[in-house]
Amino acid sequence: MTTEFAKKYGPWALVTGASKGLGLEFAVQCAERGLNIILVARSADLLDKQAGIISEKFHVEVKTIPIDLSREDILDVITPVTDSLEVGLLINNAGISRVRPFLDHSLDQLLTQLHLNARAALVLAYHFGQKMKDRKRGGIMFLSSGSAMNGTAYVSNYAGTKAYNLILGESLWYELGKYGVDVLGFMPGSTKSPGWDLNEAKTSFMVKVMDVDETISKALDALGKRPSLIAGTINSLSYFILGRFMSRSQSINTVSKSMEKLFGPFD
Ligand SMILES: NC(=O)c1ccc[n+]([C@@H]2O[C@H](COP(=O)([O-])OP(=O)(O)OC[C@H]3O[C@@H](n4cnc5c(N)ncnc54)[C@H](OP(=O)(O)O)[C@@H]3O)[C@@H](O)[C@H]2O)c1
Repeated sequence: MTTEFAKKYGPWALVTGASKGLGLEFAVQCAERGLNIILVARSADLLDKQAGIISEKFHVEVKTIPIDLSREDILDVITPVTDSLEVGLLINNAGISRVRPFLDHSLDQLLTQLHLNARAALVLAYHFGQKMKDRKRGGIMFLSSGSAMNGTAYVSNYAGTKAYNLILGESLWYELGKYGVDVLGFMPGSTKSPGWDLNEAKTSFMVKVMDVDETISKALDALGKRPSLIAGTINSLSYFILGRFMSRSQSINTVSKSMEKLFGPFD
């Protein structure tokens, strides 16, 4: 099936963190829109299983690249698979978030998070962005988070990496947009996934946890239409109020206290 989406962003999409959660749903919805998919994550068996399910259901080609994206030499592993393929869509989705006080992480854990969430996204955008610019078409998505909007305690390093993704994405929206390459910084808002469950949030009327299909269709629909998007009406409204009507210290205090309510207590 050749959809408008496939004409613009096909024939191949590379999705990182595609073994489960949001990444898997990105892969499913891109396949549904007619793209062949390259699934990237660490769990080789899970990737093979998802590849089988997607190719059978949507009649597209699916390849897998099992790799730890926090490594330095990621292009040495990825390019032997992708060099012969036209990757028209890059979804920089892989990311880890663990809610806990900054100094309770080891420095190694924080560096791994920085390399996965930010460095890998940079390396892949640089590599595939060049080819898309030459072809004068394509799309790149950077997974950010609401925590990119202002400092957020207990996810300090994570929030820093997500601010990096948001600002890099918005900047490239302008720069690469001139060459027909659509770029989006996407802030999902709380979405039910294995990663979300791991942090064991308490329920609150203030947080609407979305389903992955809803979150991901919003992201794919927004590509090419705007530089960035916060998914969910409540999330957009909250960040509008925090940014427009509160001082910087008030908004940091507000989101950090809500982190304590949702995920605390912390020592
Ligand atoms: N869920 C939310 O509420 C939410 C909100 C805001 C932003 N986000 C962002 O959305 C993205 C996806 O989140 P999610 O909730 O779907 O996460 P998730 O359920 O934890 O899934 C993470 C994915 O990344 C892969 N991954 C983890 N470490 C990796 C590594 N070192 N190398 C390669 N792949 C790795 C995992 O597969 P393997 O374990 O097989 O490697 C998995 O496929 C993240 O960037 C996250 O920050 C999520």
